[in-house]
Amino acid sequence: MKRATVALLGSVLLCNGAASQPSPFAQPSASSPTWSQLSLGNMMLLIQARHAKIWYAGRAEDWALVDYELGHISDDLTAAAMLYSDIPVAFVTSADRALVRMREAAKQKDPAGLQSAFSELTTACNTCHTAGGVSFIRIQTPTTLPFTNQHFQPSTR
Ligand code: HEC
Repeated sequence: MKRATVALLGSVLLCNGAASQPSPFAQPSASSPTWSQLSLGNMMLLIQARHAKIWYAGRAEDWALVDYELGHISDDLTAAAMLYSDIPVAFVTSADRALVRMREAAKQKDPAGLQSAFSELTTACNTCHTAGGVSFIRIQTPTTLPFTNQHFQPSTR
């Protein structure tokens, strides 16, 4: 039963994630670290960083960067769901639905659509936190770009 759930989840998420091309420099070697060396809380910190970057990349209409970050956040959520198999699938699929909407908005270069789907994603973050007993981790739309060492600008592609 659990195996079936995880397989289903993998197929739902993997076909939506990884649409952006990975860098040719980012091919893992046999000695690359694996996700399983990260705790769920640490994975979530990465997810939080990408959540913020997606927001500011969207505001700057940096569509290539939005697409890149969406691919990564999708992969990160998939990895979390695969490694922590007691997470109910419904909470991951509702986050994934928002990500699919975001990817579509990015394809259409539609800032309003992206913002609306971003709110849906933020709700999905918090719904899972409440269900998972960590309702004190409240995610919101960022109010300040936490990364001042990266430039966000309208994409040229
Ligand atoms: C499917 C469930 C689920 C979804 C979806 C989810 N989270 Fe989490 N998140 C958790 C759980 C469970 C924890 C607590 C992990 C722990 O304590 O080990 C957590 C913890 C966190 C933390 C605390 C990490 C820290 O050390 O400060 C942050 C931040 C976070 N999540 C951000 C997000 C963001 C942003 C999203 C949405 C883009 C999101 N999460 C979506 C389940 C989820």
